[in-house]
Amino acid sequence: MSDSGRSVTFEIYRKTPAQVAGLREISGLWRKEPGGFWSFDQVIEALQRPSVRLFYLVSRVAPVAPAASQDPWQAAVLIDVGPYSADLLYIYVRPEMRRAGLGRVMMEHLFDWLARNPGDQPGGAPKEELFLEVRLSNQPAIALYESFGMTRVSVRKGYYSDGEDALVFKRKVKF
Ligand SMILES: CC(C)(COP(=O)(O)OP(=O)(O)OC[C@H]1O[C@@H](n2cnc3c(N)ncnc32)[C@H](O)[C@@H]1OP(=O)(O)O)[C@@H](O)C(=O)NCCC(=O)NCCS
Repeated sequence: MSDSGRSVTFEIYRKTPAQVAGLREISGLWRKEPGGFWSFDQVIEALQRPSVRLFYLVSRVAPVAPAASQDPWQAAVLIDVGPYSADLLYIYVRPEMRRAGLGRVMMEHLFDWLARNPGDQPGGAPKEELFLEVRLSNQPAIALYESFGMTRVSVRKGYYSDGEDALVFKRKVKF
């Protein structure tokens, strides 16, 4: 995907100072979402576990320039990787960038990454399934997951702190 000489790249969070700044900025945004998600500090704490991995999309000048620290993240996805499967903890696209295909791009990259299982990933084998929970009322996210062929496997009653139910979705990594 590109426009005016820039392209959107899928990056792995490796705790560089520019990435810490990017995470701080975007986590401030997702805290304002209805239902919200973890604070910057909570994400940093979770990332201390080697199984928790963070990816993001950033627009940069193609093809050689590295992402600059001021380039805002356009989307992010946080996962917890187990020996055979992974849990999607959160996916987020900046509000002004929604309905432009970035959620789809993130999901495609994520499934590809899980199938390839890069050597630096704990666990040592390609993952078989992706699981996630989503609020019953979150129609955009549910539509996104269903468009990827994810299927509902159960309902977790009162899963969220405000009492809302969660739908549990899963999909084989390789169809
Ligand atoms: C859910 C979210 C990540 C989708 O990102 P996005 O970039 O807008 O999604 P895309 O543009 O890639 O859309 C891909 C598909 O998802 C579905 N979809 C996305 N937003 C939708 C909406 N508002 N209404 C209906 N379907 C929607 C559609 O099937 C869409 O395909 P289409 O455009 O061909 O119709 C985004 O709305 C978001 O960040 N929401 C807030 C955070 C959140 O709720 N995360 C999920 C927590 S479990």
